[in-house]
Amino acid sequence: MSNPMSNPVSSVRPSAGGAVGGALPTVLEARGLGVRFGNFVALAGINFRIDDAPNKGEFVAMLGPSGCGKSTLLNCIAGFLQPTDGELLVHGKAIDGPARDRGMIFQQYSSFPHLTVRQNVLFGLQINHHELAYSSEQRTDRALALIQQVGLDGHEHKYPHQLSGGQQQRVAIARTLVLEPRIILMDEPFSALDEPTRLEMQELLVNLWYRVQPTIIVVTHSVAEAVYLSERVWIFTRNPGCIAYDIRDCIPPTAGIPPLVAQEQPKFKEAVRVVTEAFRRVEGASHATAASAAKTAG
Ligand SMILES: Nc1ncnc2c1ncn2[C@@H]1O[C@H](COP(=O)(O)OP(=O)(O)O)[C@@H](O)[C@H]1O
Ligand SMILES: [Mg+2]
Repeated sequence: MSNPMSNPVSSVRPSAGGAVGGALPTVLEARGLGVRFGNFVALAGINFRIDDAPNKGEFVAMLGPSGCGKSTLLNCIAGFLQPTDGELLVHGKAIDGPARDRGMIFQQYSSFPHLTVRQNVLFGLQINHHELAYSSEQRTDRALALIQQVGLDGHEHKYPHQLSGGQQQRVAIARTLVLEPRIILMDEPFSALDEPTRLEMQELLVNLWYRVQPTIIVVTHSVAEAVYLSERVWIFTRNPGCIAYDIRDCIPPTAGIPPLVAQEQPKFKEAVRVVTEAFRRVEGASHATAASAAKTAG
């Protein structure tokens, strides 16, 4: 069997960057994107494209050492932060701020504490009601449908503090999905959950993605979570942050398969091995850079 890591260049698809063009339009595209905070270069030379395939959303996981700029990139895509270099396009247009087509889900539960589950899920529909042509009845129906999809029926009238961590994260997911964003951004969404709840949420997310087909970009620090959730893994290197590996071909589909079952499959184990190996190389390179910088400084 060929070792996909023996030639990083073949498995590192350093973003088609616009040059290697698919015929498809793009959902998201970065060209030479960089972010500087004063003199500090957080991200540099970020190139990628995510194709807009018909009826198919791509699921990307970002992995990388802490501080390599994953949240920074996610914030740029969300429109919370402007890149200082290069271009970042959503459906071919430069991103100039947050919009309803992109929904963000954070690690911390981001629901309103003074609103019930049902009110929380209805909130986005209500504040956008001029643009969304839903009647009040349709809004309620949509909110209740979403509450059911994320497995919270029976909890509609509870407040966030009356729910477990996993349930609170379900509310956050329902609040985001109810607005039907075509791009969903998640920054370590399950990091605060205990392991069984995390696995439950992973399964829920993959099944929702499979049904609804949005583009999803998730930041995680778990290789197994990245391989289970996504079908494409970007591994970041730091100083400055950029995408060192873009791994796709070896990631098996997992929709309809619980995480603990998927993890036992040889294809899954092989993908974990490939991704872990790439991650180690990046970490090794980061340490080598840090050591040589310390040497130079000393
Ligand atoms: N607003 C900011 N001002 C200055 N430095 C920042 C700011 N936001 C992030 N950074 C720095 O940029 C780097 C990348 O941060 P971040 O994107 O949060 O990393 P990650 O999410 O990969 O852990 C870190 O070194 C961080 O300290
Ligand atoms: Mg982060």
